[in-house]
Amino acid sequence: MDLAAEYFDDGSSFVAIDPLSINPKSLTDFSLFERYARKDGQYRFRCLLVDSKSIPRERLIKMLASWDVVYIHKNQNLNYTQYVKKNLEFILKHEDIDVKKKTGTLINLATEVVLESFATNFVSREDCKWAIKNIENLISQAMDFISGIESLEGMADLIGHDYQTHTHSIKVGWLTATFINANPDLFEVETAQLKDFMIQATVAGFLHDIGKIKIPKNVINKKGKLNNLEYVIIQSHTAYSTSLLFESKLPRSSMQTILYHHENEDGSGYPCGLSGDQIPLMAKICHIADVFDALTSKRPYKAARTPFEALKIMAGENPYLETLKKFEAEAMENSKIPVTVIVKDDYEAKLRRLREKELLEEEAKKRVEARTKLRDQGMSHCFDTDFLKRFIVTINKSESFDLSRLL
Ligand SMILES: [Fe+2]
Repeated sequence: MDLAAEYFDDGSSFVAIDPLSINPKSLTDFSLFERYARKDGQYRFRCLLVDSKSIPRERLIKMLASWDVVYIHKNQNLNYTQYVKKNLEFILKHEDIDVKKKTGTLINLATEVVLESFATNFVSREDCKWAIKNIENLISQAMDFISGIESLEGMADLIGHDYQTHTHSIKVGWLTATFINANPDLFEVETAQLKDFMIQATVAGFLHDIGKIKIPKNVINKKGKLNNLEYVIIQSHTAYSTSLLFESKLPRSSMQTILYHHENEDGSGYPCGLSGDQIPLMAKICHIADVFDALTSKRPYKAARTPFEALKIMAGENPYLETLKKFEAEAMENSKIPVTVIVKDDYEAKLRRLREKELLEEEAKKRVEARTKLRDQGMSHCFDTDFLKRFIVTINKSESFDLSRLL
């Protein structure tokens, strides 16, 4: 759309952007404005540049360096978003852009593509391909940034917030990439193929919980603890994720990671009860990143743990492991609270049966509470000890995390 050269506005029609996000080698199709405050509380917005086609590159570089902030008209916001998506790699590699700003840009774009893929519902093969392509495109541009230790500074700012499936998925993919980059010796992958391998792992992280779109909303959004039946329903998300992505042509390693990201090292996980070497390495990392992020996120029924507290739980040996396993097995077997027959026209018997039903429900609730509490006593049985130690060493390399007391 054509814009005027000058606007008088209360500021609501314009958006501030960082001039450093403009790549001198990539032409813009949106106009840049500067802003002047006026005595009447309004602003004057004056056009600095209609688009970057009209001026020589050298001059553009000088202009961009001379501005601290520039504005775009909100009618061209979509053009700018598309531009940032196309130039994400340039932005993330820019030495003068602050890590936190880079993280903000990345999270905005990643949220958009993950939400798009969650909304797609994967009803057609074309939808599926399109969603995967968008995610792969974003991740391949962001890979050098997210797999570097410096990016953990931006990641640290995202920890401790409310749990949301899409931001959780982004962080899991991100942590998985950082881990692989810092521990390439664990994987039998040629150096030249390492980047592709990290992309596959990150795509798996971004999509590992996609099957949750098939879980009823009242279970997914439940504010309290899950009862036994809901616990079993939630566990079906790994199988749903795999079936939704069945036609996606995702590499085998990504699919395995998505299916097995809840398998525990001692065989007590789901969906298959795999243990030790049966669990693919990429799935082991995704599992660690997944639990770490879940514990450090806030939920309506629990406060966020700090990274130190979360990893202490994850590395801790559970003194009540046998009892915990009994509760877990019971939750799988007794996922339904038994329904009591109500005897017609027998008031006393009816009351007695109702009371029995109430007692059973109370008992089941207590056992759910106990199961949840017991899990927090130690989770080392869920993870590969070497992988968990390396995970702690990896994130401890960033100054934003101090986990030295765990090492
Ligand atoms: Fe999951």
